[in-house]
Amino acid sequence: MTAVGVDLRRVYGAYPTGVTVVAGLVGGNPAGLAASSFVPVSLDPPLVSVCVAHTSTTWPLLRALPRIGISVLASHQGHVGRRLGSREADRFAGVDWRSTPDGCVQVEGAAAWYDCSIERQFRSGDHDIIVFRVHALDAQAGVPPLIYHGGTFRDLAGGPIGERASAP
Ligand SMILES: Cc1cc2nc3c(=O)[nH]c(=O)nc-3n(C[C@H](O)[C@H](O)[C@H](O)COP(=O)(O)O)c2cc1C
Repeated sequence: MTAVGVDLRRVYGAYPTGVTVVAGLVGGNPAGLAASSFVPVSLDPPLVSVCVAHTSTTWPLLRALPRIGISVLASHQGHVGRRLGSREADRFAGVDWRSTPDGCVQVEGAAAWYDCSIERQFRSGDHDIIVFRVHALDAQAGVPPLIYHGGTFRDLAGGPIGERASAP
């Protein structure tokens, strides 16, 4: 056991997640960031959440938008996760993207997309928990997701284990 604060990144990294791109059109150009903190929250109403660091320079631009896209990256899109998680100025260079009529930016070829607006924001330590209302969504059957674990991008190795596990 290690004292809290010493090894947070290493131990948080033991929890596998997907990788999303949270993005919108700012002045006609795509702006966005990679986020592994995406969590589906509620079925009725449909809500999802992402935690954003107070140090983010992109989030203050996005949070002013009426609609924000969230793309769940596919396993072949590690380069997109790296690019959107960097501090490069033109993060969408070399990334295939499209915008929806209401201004969401979606990554082409992603495993799933959400078209969202901000419902609520909660200050929590050095991050804000952003709760989004989902207005439209879609997923591509058979497109496997990108996995983030231990600071490394991975794909889903092997097939399902045992029976399907559905929440009640
Ligand atoms: C795989 C991955 C996951 C990330 N997840 C988050 C996240 O959940 N929340 C967050 O605030 N930043 C996250 N980041 C970092 C942001 O993407 C990064 O801070 C941001 O792109 C920096 O630029 P900004 O100042 O424009 O926000 C992640 C980065 C990577 C590579």
